[in-house]
Amino acid sequence: MAAAVAAAPKQGQTAQTAAVPTVYAQACQVCHAAGVAGAPKLGDQAAWAPRAAQGVEALTASVVKGKGAMPPRGGSSASDAQLRQVVEYMVNQVQ
Ligand code: HEC
Repeated sequence: MAAAVAAAPKQGQTAQTAAVPTVYAQACQVCHAAGVAGAPKLGDQAAWAPRAAQGVEALTASVVKGKGAMPPRGGSSASDAQLRQVVEYMVNQVQ
């Protein structure tokens, strides 16, 4: 399934914790690092505050379905659980 998470976890890490930076780097960074097409930029407080207020569950649901210029799952093949962890990671950059 998820080619995006094929990288082997480092020793002592679970596959779950290793997946977050891998999924972000391979699937999300292309838009969210620079704010492409109106994407909320990673670490941009003003862009994230109103979104973070919706909660991680609602934001994850947006990613799974796709929203605006963002394709479903951000164009990745990551699982719902992995997407939720990446969303948590993104939201945590501005708290
Ligand atoms: C093709 C560019 C693109 C990619 C790739 C992409 N996004 Fe997005 N993302 C966007 C855009 C544009 C928005 C703003 C959508 C809107 O509000 O209309 C957005 C919004 C979001 C939001 C806020 C959703 C909301 O309800 O406000 C989250 C969370 C998010 N992206 C996470 C991710 C994650 C996680 C990934 C990788 C799995 C990802 N994005 C990949 C473009 C992208």
